[in-house]
Amino acid sequence: MAYKVPFVNYPLQYQNLKSEIDRTVKKIFESGNLILRQDVEDFEHAFAAVLGVKYALGLSSGTDALIIALKAAGIGAGDEVITVSHTFVASIAAIVHCGAVPVLIDVKEDDFTMDMEKIEEVITSKTKAIIPVHYNGRSCEMDTLMKIAEKYNVAIIEDTAQSVGATFKKRSVGSFGTASTYSFYPAKILGCYGDGGALATNDRTIYEKAKLLRNHGQRSKTDIVCYGFTGRLDNLQAAILNVKMKYLPQWIERRREIARVYDDGLREVKEVRLPPRPDSDERYYDVFQNYVLKAQKRDELAHCLKENGVEILIKDPVANHQQKGLGLHHFCLPVSERLAREVISLPMYPELTDEQVDCVICNVRTFYASS
Ligand SMILES: Cc1ncc(COP(=O)(O)O)c(C=O)c1O
Repeated sequence: MAYKVPFVNYPLQYQNLKSEIDRTVKKIFESGNLILRQDVEDFEHAFAAVLGVKYALGLSSGTDALIIALKAAGIGAGDEVITVSHTFVASIAAIVHCGAVPVLIDVKEDDFTMDMEKIEEVITSKTKAIIPVHYNGRSCEMDTLMKIAEKYNVAIIEDTAQSVGATFKKRSVGSFGTASTYSFYPAKILGCYGDGGALATNDRTIYEKAKLLRNHGQRSKTDIVCYGFTGRLDNLQAAILNVKMKYLPQWIERRREIARVYDDGLREVKEVRLPPRPDSDERYYDVFQNYVLKAQKRDELAHCLKENGVEILIKDPVANHQQKGLGLHHFCLPVSERLAREVISLPMYPELTDEQVDCVICNVRTFYASS
């Protein structure tokens, strides 16, 4: 079924950028510049400048970026790493792939980001890092976190996969910690045509280690200094990101505008709890990777919206610590468990028309008015 309001619309974004993208792809194919070439370097300089950090490194995905960041920060077997359960599973998987132990804590009810008050309850002498996840386009509360990091001397690896361009107290998320990681999965605010990711840091040692890890530990063919990965961002994807990056500010502003319209249209609906409205707290500049509601009768609402041509997503229907295959059942995290039952993501991308946004609002309102 073709939705009136699809959840993502990759072809439409491509149509808007067609001539630039086509020219870029043709240039790359004709030149044969495919692996670790100039476009990757150009991307890294431009991306570091956008974030206001010293170094950025193009990597193969957001998940690989997390693994490489943790390893570059020296995290390994037996170490404990604190993160949240209410995140994409990759934030937790990366810890396990490093041989470390994930220690999961809950998120806050109001904005679904890490509850900083829970950290000291679980910190031990084995805690070596914390992964705050800037979720749905909103920064974590970084003041408290950075104080804790200093007090206990732990690394902070910011999972910024969903929040490129967001700020906390006017400073880019991803510029606070030891390192930060990004995903350019197509649905992301800045997405490529396949998988891609990045790491950013102000620490030269972390940068150098990560650079080795992304390319099999090779300084040269005769100088392999550690075991690494095929962790590189393709030159083709870097060139595409270089085209797209200049549109980032206007895409983010359009997302924020749509968030305001959703807020205006749905604020009165008492059965839903909306995310914080843009500018409702001057410390946060949210970029709305996702527009996520807490909704009563969530599953019925989802069904009704789909029936009426509005494609929605239930991103986290089972809390990660309650997933069967992950061995994390020993955690008890009431907020994350409740969110798994209550949250629903409405369509959110810059190409949505005003009519489509109104259509979503109208359908949510009608559902609750008639149920
Ligand atoms: C919060 C978070 N962390 C990590 C990732 C992993 O990124 P990737 O899919 O590029 O590996 C994602 C991707 O959706 C994410 O949302």
